[in-house]
Amino acid sequence: MIVFLLLLSLFSPSWAKEPSPVKMTEVDMSPPEGFDDVYAKNARNVFVTWMSMPLDHFDPQNPTNFSMRYMFNEEFFGGNGYPIFIMAGGEWTIDHRWLLAGNMYEMARENKGFQVYTEHRYYGATQIFSNFTAENLRFLNIDQALADLAYFITEIKKQPRFAESEVIMYGGSYAANMVMWFKKRYPHLVVGTVASSGPILAKVDYPEYLEVVHEAFLLEGGEECIGHIKRGIDDTIAAMQTESGRRQLEQAYRLCEPPNYDDDYDLAVFAGLISWTFSTSVQQARPGSLLAVCNNFTDHTSYGSTPMEKIGGYIMITRQRESDQCWSTSYESFLNNYRATNNSRAWYYQTCTEYGYYQTAPTSGTVFDSLKWLNLDFYTDICKRVFDERFDVAYVENAAKRVNLIFGGLEPVVNNTINIHGYIDPWRALGVYKNDISETSPTYTVNRASHCFDMQGWLRTDTIEMTAVQQRARRLVTSWLSKPESETS
Ligand SMILES: *[C@@H]1O[C@H](CO)[C@@H](O)[C@H](O)[C@H]1NC(C)=O
Ligand SMILES: *[C@@H]1O[C@H](CO)[C@@H](O)[C@H](O)[C@H]1NC(C)=O
Ligand SMILES: *[C@@H]1O[C@H](CO)[C@@H](O)[C@H](O)[C@H]1NC(C)=O
Ligand SMILES: *[C@@H]1O[C@H](CO)[C@@H](O)[C@H](O)[C@H]1NC(C)=O
Ligand SMILES: *[C@@H]1O[C@H](CO)[C@@H](O)[C@H](O)[C@H]1NC(C)=O
Repeated sequence: MIVFLLLLSLFSPSWAKEPSPVKMTEVDMSPPEGFDDVYAKNARNVFVTWMSMPLDHFDPQNPTNFSMRYMFNEEFFGGNGYPIFIMAGGEWTIDHRWLLAGNMYEMARENKGFQVYTEHRYYGATQIFSNFTAENLRFLNIDQALADLAYFITEIKKQPRFAESEVIMYGGSYAANMVMWFKKRYPHLVVGTVASSGPILAKVDYPEYLEVVHEAFLLEGGEECIGHIKRGIDDTIAAMQTESGRRQLEQAYRLCEPPNYDDDYDLAVFAGLISWTFSTSVQQARPGSLLAVCNNFTDHTSYGSTPMEKIGGYIMITRQRESDQCWSTSYESFLNNYRATNNSRAWYYQTCTEYGYYQTAPTSGTVFDSLKWLNLDFYTDICKRVFDERFDVAYVENAAKRVNLIFGGLEPVVNNTINIHGYIDPWRALGVYKNDISETSPTYTVNRASHCFDMQGWLRTDTIEMTAVQQRARRLVTSWLSKPESETS
C-alpha cells in the first residue's frame, strides 16, 4: 500500500493542468432549492414576454426605446381587482423558477395574485448595446432602473383586468434597495414592498463585510474553527517571506505559476482567492453549512494536512474545481472577468459609479486582517482599468455620496416596507438591522440566517425563527391589501 502511494506521487503531478480564473463573490440568485419536481411539472405556467420603454426616462428629447424582458405566472390570479406581485430583478439573469416557489409565490397564492418577474436593464437578456463601453453604460443606473419599474406598472395597469389591482414588490440584495427606494420615490404605484437583505448605505470602503464573515464562522463553528482558519492564513503570509515557503504556498494553493510577489495587484488577486471563498460560504450559508466546513478544517484529511494546505483544499472543494485544475492569480487575466459584455461587467460598473461596496481587509483583529492587499487602491484600479481612467477613488467616493444623498442612506424614511436581514449575512452591515425603519416598516433580523434567506421556500435546515419571519412577512403583506369588491360585498 505504501509503495503504491509513493508511486502515485512520483509519477502523477498532483495538480496543475487547467488554469481557472479567480472570481470575486457575486450574489447567487439561484432559484429556491428542493422544488425540482414542482419546476418540472409547472414550468408551463410561466410565460416570457417583453415591454418596450424609453432608454432615457429623463430626457424627452431622446426617442430611443429598448425592450425589457419579464416573466409572469397567472395560475393564482383571481381576476379584476386582485393584486400584482412583482419580483424585481437585480444584477442577474431572471429565472422562471422564482415564479414557481419561494415566499413571494406563497404570498401570491394566499392573495390570488398575479406574479411578475422583471429583468433589470443591461442584465440577462435585457440588452440595449452590444458593447458595454463606459459611454454605452451611462444609462445603467438606479434612477433609470426605478423608472423602468414605474413605466412597467403604469403600462401593465392599462389592461382593464389590472386597473384596480394593487402592487406589492419583493426584492433581494441590490433589488431590495430597489424596491425600498421605489416605495419612497413612487408611493402612488405600490402599496408595500418586501426588502430582503438590502445594503442600502452606499459605502466605498467596506471592511465590515469580512468582519461579518469572521463573526459568522465564530458563531457557527466556535473559537476552534477560527483558530484553524487563522493558522492557515497566517502561515500563508509567513510562507511568502522565503523561497522554500513560496514553493510550498504555490503547491498548497495549486497555483498555475508563482504570483509576482512584487506586484500588489497580483497579491490582491491571491488574497481574494482566499477571502472571496470564505465570503461565498457565508453569503450562501444555511444553518449547519458553516459547521460542516469547520468540521473539515478540524480533521486532517478532508481539506489537507498542514494548516496552509487546508485552506488550499477548502478553496478547491468550495469552488468545485477538479484536482487537475490550478489557479491563475495574474491581475491582467483577472481583469478579463470584467471585460466581456455580461452581468459581471455591468455590476462592476454600478459599484464604480454608485455603490462601492468594496470588501477590503479589516483592521479589527479578524482572520482576514493580514490580507492587506485587498484595499481601495486595488478595487478602484479595476474601475480605472476596465472602464475609464477618471474612475479613481475620489470619483467613486463622490458617486456613493450621491446615492446616499438621494435615498437617505441608513435613514430611508419609507412606509410599508418589510426590512429583513440575516444576522450572519455580510451585507447586513450596510442595512438597517437593529431597529425598525418606521412604524409601518418593521425590521426582522434573524440569527443564523444569511443573504436573502426569506425569499426561499421552506427548507429542512431552516430554523423556527426563519420560518416565523417568512410567515410574518406574508401576514403583513396581506394586511396591506384591500379586499377586492367581490369579496367585501
Ligand atoms: C418609443 O416608444 C414610443 C411609445 O410607444 C413611441 O411613440 C416612439 O415612436 C418610440 N420611439 C422610437 C424611436 O421608435
Ligand atoms: C468594445 O469597444 C471597445 C472600445 O471601443 C473595443 O476595444 C472592444 O474591442 C469592443 N468589444 C467588442 C466585443 O466589440
Ligand atoms: C468536507 O470534505 C469532504 C472530503 O473532502 C468533501 O467531500 C466535502 O464536500 C467537504 N464539505 C465541505 C462543506 O466542504
Ligand atoms: C463574464 O465574462 C467573463 C469573461 O469571460 C467571465 O470570467 C465572467 O465569469 C462572466 N460573468 C458572468 C456573470 O457570466
Ligand atoms: C408614513 O405613514 C405615516 C402614518 O400614516 C404618515 O404620517 C407619514 O407621512 C408617512 N410617511 C411617508 C414618507 O409616506
